[in-house]
Amino acid sequence: MSDPHRSSARPAEPAVRALQLRQQLHHHAHRYYVLDEPEIPDAEYDKLFQELQALEAAHPELASADSPTQRVVGAVLDHFAPVRHAVPMLSIRTETDTEATGAQAFDARIRRELGLAEGDAQVQYVAELKFDGLAINLRYEHGTLVCAATRGDGEVGEDVTQNIRTIGQIPLRLQTGTNSLPLSGRAGVGAAPPPVLEVRGEVYMRRDDFEALNERQRGKIAQGAKNEKTFVNPRNAAAGAVRQLDPAIAARRPLSFFAYGLGEVVLPEGQSPPETHHGWLMQLRDWGFPVASQTRLAQGAEELVAFHRDMGQGRDALPYDIDGVVYKVNSLALQKRLGFVTREPRWAVAHKYPAQEQLTMVLAIDVQVGRTGKLTPVAKLAPVFVGGVTVTNATLHNEDEARRKDVRVGDTVVVRRAGDVIPEVVSVVLDKRAHDGLLFTMPRQCPICGSAAVREEGEADYRCTGGIFCPAQRKEAIVHFAHRRAVEIEGLGDKLVEQLVDANLVRNLADLYRLGFAALASLERMGDKSANNLVAAIEKSKQTTLARFIFGLGIRHVGEATAKELARHFGKLDAVMDASENQLLEVADVGPVVAQSIRTFFAQPHNREVVEQMRALGLVWPEGEPAAREVLPLTGKTLVITGTLPSLSRDEAKDKIEAAGGKVAGSVSKKTDYLVAGSEAGSKLTKAQELGISILDEAQLMELLNGSA
Ligand code: IVH
Repeated sequence: MSDPHRSSARPAEPAVRALQLRQQLHHHAHRYYVLDEPEIPDAEYDKLFQELQALEAAHPELASADSPTQRVVGAVLDHFAPVRHAVPMLSIRTETDTEATGAQAFDARIRRELGLAEGDAQVQYVAELKFDGLAINLRYEHGTLVCAATRGDGEVGEDVTQNIRTIGQIPLRLQTGTNSLPLSGRAGVGAAPPPVLEVRGEVYMRRDDFEALNERQRGKIAQGAKNEKTFVNPRNAAAGAVRQLDPAIAARRPLSFFAYGLGEVVLPEGQSPPETHHGWLMQLRDWGFPVASQTRLAQGAEELVAFHRDMGQGRDALPYDIDGVVYKVNSLALQKRLGFVTREPRWAVAHKYPAQEQLTMVLAIDVQVGRTGKLTPVAKLAPVFVGGVTVTNATLHNEDEARRKDVRVGDTVVVRRAGDVIPEVVSVVLDKRAHDGLLFTMPRQCPICGSAAVREEGEADYRCTGGIFCPAQRKEAIVHFAHRRAVEIEGLGDKLVEQLVDANLVRNLADLYRLGFAALASLERMGDKSANNLVAAIEKSKQTTLARFIFGLGIRHVGEATAKELARHFGKLDAVMDASENQLLEVADVGPVVAQSIRTFFAQPHNREVVEQMRALGLVWPEGEPAAREVLPLTGKTLVITGTLPSLSRDEAKDKIEAAGGKVAGSVSKKTDYLVAGSEAGSKLTKAQELGISILDEAQLMELLNGSA
């Protein structure tokens, strides 16, 4: 974005500049958090942000509550102050019918209440998603967020403003005409911020954010952290974050928001409000609030039924949990006519979907072994319909989790399945425990092959040490080897590998190349044509590349990118197999853990044997010359460039570094060896200083390049 204020000859007055910065930051935060369409890179945003911080620090009189810098977290609280809602926060009637009848019953009731006859026009509704989070009331006065409160008992909630301020999707200031954003032009509202506006909506946590949070929590627990726990579901994690007394912790819990309604509203004199609920939602969107894109206008019962069906089918693909849909009468005049029964409006109803959590019984706890030998405890369950499918297995993740949740055979447990996340046991219903089953312990032997199972220091998982000798790992190893991105054997999928291993036709990767037509055709459900195709696919896979072959071996920690680097660096398989740890460490991306893993793999005689057999059976790939072996001045070093260098352009500096064997990365991390800093270096310089990374100017870089440093 061009900034006309910067090019002016005289620097702007601090007050003017602060205003400009706030406007720009509000604008970019909206693009980033709400629209998912950032216009500027994060670093650029950070620069503006830091400039504003510095300005506010130097001129405390410029500070204001709606400044983006105020998203920064405040002090720890010992309780939340009560907030009386100006307009009570009502609940909503729920239809649990899973069939179309829920929508039809609602429409029929509305028509009856409104005195409509059969031939009369259809009622217009707004159909929305029912988000599974917690309701929040956001109060804006003259466009600035002044208070955020939970629903509480509907009359009095809790003041959680500090925590809500950390949610990037919630505007601290309405984007009205005075904020130099386009006027909405809707019903005359929007040009100036209303004196009072209360926006209601749901604070929730996305499923991927939830999974990542729990993964982090499990890591902390594995490291021995006390007072840490995993969360049962995104709703609980979101509620916990909103009601977290330490806003620094709340700020680290990634939350999102959708607006769906209003509380108290006082408009500027002379402005007329939208006449429909949908009109208001569009107005809220213009003001900068996220409104779910699935929200639809619907005519009559039929379109509500279709919405319920479509959203039910699309539910798993959404990035967040919904527990139903909500239908609302669109016209505000009709809403008023319909009124309320006790604490529920007559003009709205929630129509639920099958729950994503259910109770069932644990029949057994099995231990499964993965491709890399990871042992995972899995609860075998009495079949239960949850989140739209019948579930009979649910993961317990690892030994610590299974013991912490204290899941025992015979227990009644809560099972959760949402989206395509694997079903999980979230908790035990202790009240229903009528036995004394044993606390789970991980077997010290692989349940499949009997090899020792070991848990490495600081790791959460036990692993079987049997390698591809372990049939469990064998199947997975073969599936991986045959994968499209490895050597690719078309048509050789899970099911077939299962059959081949179970029939003892394939015990290791080399056996694949000994399979003939007769053996394949002897398998159940295998026709002559399929057998022929598979023979051809196996034959075709013999012509491969070194990178695909290395990747296909399934060496722990060696992914596709590392395999490519290894192939490029060494040129020949024998060189990789015989490389010393130090030689491996010269390869880009290979650190001590990866190097050790490669060494261990090729130190096993049976692994080398299988490789030899495959070569003897005709697997070939072009071999090249190893990349220059001489150790260059920057071999194995990672550098980051920031700011403007006096004579070299960035590209020239990068070329020189790479020619000297070094790597240039885009951001500073613990792995950075040097930061090359020119003038106007920004946050990268600060970060490098924090991490104690060596900082070079251009002259010092040149010395390093010439090998004289
Ligand atoms: S409207 C007067 N719309 O469901 C109507 N609620 O009791 C007030 N919810 O606690 C609610 N998505 O947190 C409405 N699109 C939506 C919703 C929604 C989720 C929650 C809300 C409330 C409960 C209904």
